[in-house]
Amino acid sequence: MDGGQPSVTVRAALPGEEAWALALAIRVAGDQVPPARDAAPALLAINVERLFAFCRAREHRLLIAEEAGSAVGFLLLLVNFPHEVTGLPEGYVAYVAVEPEQRRRGAARALMAAAEAEARRCGMSQMGLVVTAGNVAATQLYDALNYTTERTVRCKDL
Ligand SMILES: CC(C)(COP(=O)(O)OP(=O)(O)OC[C@H]1O[C@@H](n2cnc3c(N)ncnc32)[C@H](O)[C@@H]1OP(=O)(O)O)[C@@H](O)C(=O)NCCC(=O)NCCS
Repeated sequence: MDGGQPSVTVRAALPGEEAWALALAIRVAGDQVPPARDAAPALLAINVERLFAFCRAREHRLLIAEEAGSAVGFLLLLVNFPHEVTGLPEGYVAYVAVEPEQRRRGAARALMAAAEAEARRCGMSQMGLVVTAGNVAATQLYDALNYTTERTVRCKDL
């Protein structure tokens, strides 16, 4: 990065790093809970584990962002994932997360660039993802990278 700080590099996960990524994903899962939803931490953890298992059973890549020799973030990418309406294959960002104390240093931006390059290399011409409306950091990240909103998910209290 600028100012003499070490720069972020992105690489494929090494054996054993999935456990670290899963633990980080569980720690920050609360950032994605919509304000109107109750979120018991134990249930959130189970759902994140389910998501990782879902990805593991499909064609996926686990990318690691590294800074000064330490892993600071990860991105879990599905390739050849069918778009929910058209069924056409696309890349899909299943999860991206950066260690809280390592944020705003370009790690997510580098992970997204690497994921897009990998999806393109696999023949995908589009990338999809879902983001929670109140998740400012993620929403701003995707806005900055020119991801547009193509559908919205709605709910109301009953
Ligand atoms: C979202 C997240 C991955 C961003 O990681 P990051 O490494 O801090 O992001 P970057 O430093 O690469 O930021 C890239 C751009 O995203 C936007 N951005 C990131 N964090 C932001 C914040 N807190 N507020 C506003 N904009 C933000 C900015 O446009 C930023 O560019 P800039 O720093 O030049 O202004 C991180 O906040 C995180 O792990 N959140 C918890 C997990 C999560 O919600 N994941 C998203 C699931 S959909």
